[in-house]
Amino acid sequence: MKAIRIHETGGPEVMHLEEVEQPTPQAGEVLIQVAAAGINYADLSQRKGTYLTRTHVPTTLGFEVAGTVVALGPGVTAPEVGTRVAAIANGGYAEYTTAAASAVLPIPPGLDFRHAAAFPVQGITAYQLLHESGRLAQGESVLVHAAAGGVGTLAVQLAKFMGAGTVLGTASNASKLDLARRLGADVAINYTEENWAEQVQEVTDGKGADIILEMVGGRITEQSLRCLAPYGRLVVFGAASGERASFSSVQLMYKNQSVIGYWLTAWMQRPDRIAHAVSELMKYLATGKLEIVVGQTFPLTEAAAAHQAIAARHTTGKVVLLV
Ligand SMILES: NC(=O)c1ccc[n+]([C@@H]2O[C@H](COP(=O)([O-])OP(=O)(O)OC[C@H]3O[C@@H](n4cnc5c(N)ncnc54)[C@H](OP(=O)(O)O)[C@@H]3O)[C@@H](O)[C@H]2O)c1
Repeated sequence: MKAIRIHETGGPEVMHLEEVEQPTPQAGEVLIQVAAAGINYADLSQRKGTYLTRTHVPTTLGFEVAGTVVALGPGVTAPEVGTRVAAIANGGYAEYTTAAASAVLPIPPGLDFRHAAAFPVQGITAYQLLHESGRLAQGESVLVHAAAGGVGTLAVQLAKFMGAGTVLGTASNASKLDLARRLGADVAINYTEENWAEQVQEVTDGKGADIILEMVGGRITEQSLRCLAPYGRLVVFGAASGERASFSSVQLMYKNQSVIGYWLTAWMQRPDRIAHAVSELMKYLATGKLEIVVGQTFPLTEAAAAHQAIAARHTTGKVVLLV
């Protein structure tokens, strides 16, 4: 089968389309014929060797797929062969991959593969950032950074559905800000402008945002703390800039503020909480109101170009590889 592999960490040029052996599902696993592979920002970090865990090479990239179950490993009786599924699975940039049978999600009717591939990682993350980490209460204001991105487009909508008051979205250009507004952001702010944090203060009547979902790192984290409300929660879930933030822990005491880390991989050790997130997301999807924005698709063979587009901040919503 064909797969996008790396033999060393580095730039997009280390990604190669190769012929490799089709995987065999082990006990408890299913074999999925991949129709669409979701790209996550973490894939870029894995390729560069800067992810939270070490990149062991050679490896096939990709953490997320949608496709059809074509074989069952020993001891597996469900889902049946032929079921359309989405899954968090290692080695997703390939024609076939395996996943734990217990961890695959049947795709709801009406959702095609390219949209289903956009859903597991970013959907669960967006929901848990608000519910588990942010502990969103009715009427609270929420600021979503990179609101036109994969996690961001879902988080803006979910915040509204989950009862947030004012939802603010940031992005780096006008068309991304328009997208954030179209998805329900009450206020859209360009965070490349020097005074963006002051703009947040202004629209929240000087109070600041109750919850801030932060994934840029460095200066944006530091400025986010300046526009966080008393009792506010700053949820840190990425560092797209690659920069580290520096702030005073003592300063947090004045306003009873919290800084909270989020990593989906660690939450996977709590299947009950993941199941809760999935079931809530399925309900929102069933209403037809939750829009999964697939901004760009690329053929599997052009995975490197897809990575380049994401790194250059040229993408909106989810970026999907069609296999
Ligand atoms: N902790 C977890 O478990 C978890 C799970 C999923 C995602 N994440 C994190 O969430 C963030 C979003 O992930 P995603 O997959 O949905 O990606 P994405 O938001 O679709 O793409 C990244 C966006 O980040 C923004 N950005 C800001 N500063 C940037 C910089 N210096 N370089 C590149 N992009 C920059 C860009 O939007 P603008 O042009 O509008 O600035 C860009 O479009 C990433 O940091 C990712 O690592 C974490």
